[in-house]
Amino acid sequence: MPLPIAFISTQSRDKVRNIAPYSCIMPVLRPLDLICLASAEKRDTLGNIRETQEFVVNLVGQGFTDKVIPTARFSKPEEDEFDLAGITPRPSSMVNAPGIDGAYAWMECRLAGFHQGPGYTLVMGQVLRLEVDDACLTPEGRLDLDRAKPLMMIGGKKGMHYCTASDLDRFDAFGAMFSDGKDPLARAYGPGEE
Ligand SMILES: Cc1cc2nc3c(=O)[nH]c(=O)nc-3n(C[C@H](O)[C@H](O)[C@H](O)COP(=O)(O)O)c2cc1C
Repeated sequence: MPLPIAFISTQSRDKVRNIAPYSCIMPVLRPLDLICLASAEKRDTLGNIRETQEFVVNLVGQGFTDKVIPTARFSKPEEDEFDLAGITPRPSSMVNAPGIDGAYAWMECRLAGFHQGPGYTLVMGQVLRLEVDDACLTPEGRLDLDRAKPLMMIGGKKGMHYCTASDLDRFDAFGAMFSDGKDPLARAYGPGEE
């Protein structure tokens, strides 16, 4: 099934900036402010998160397809991957690591914990700040998929097929899952949000 291609930006203790695409990334339950990503051990991204306890999840549109391989290729830890891939940094508000200019959303995260597996680490991040490009929001404040065109991929045996997502124009309230029709987490969300 399609997975998102999120670009994780970090910087090392020595302020070397790094970017890597990650598809094994998901929210951990509602209210969706805790996220988890699965990382192989040999990743500068993981080393930087261990060193600095922070990272930025940049959600990009299909216009970033050509940046996937340049950021996924091995590069030496001392090389600046913004420069290497021709990507413009965007200052973050809550963390030192810069985000990526031109993404449609940015999640500035603080390390919340690790789960160590054999050959991989699950990284849990607390989202300190979520910002979405106004140009990619509907008048109701929802993500406009036709504008954001989220970059995704379907993994095959030999590689990945890039794709994006489209709206089915159908909505169900979370409350519909409960017998009283009320969402127990309703208070965690602001008024007017769908
Ligand atoms: C589309 C795509 C998705 C990827 N997803 C992951 C992932 O979820 N976890 C992971 O450890 N590596 C993933 N990779 C591989 C890393 O991006 C790649 O090894 C990269 O060089 C790591 O960079 P770093 O060493 O600078 O962190 C993915 C690569 C691509 C192209």
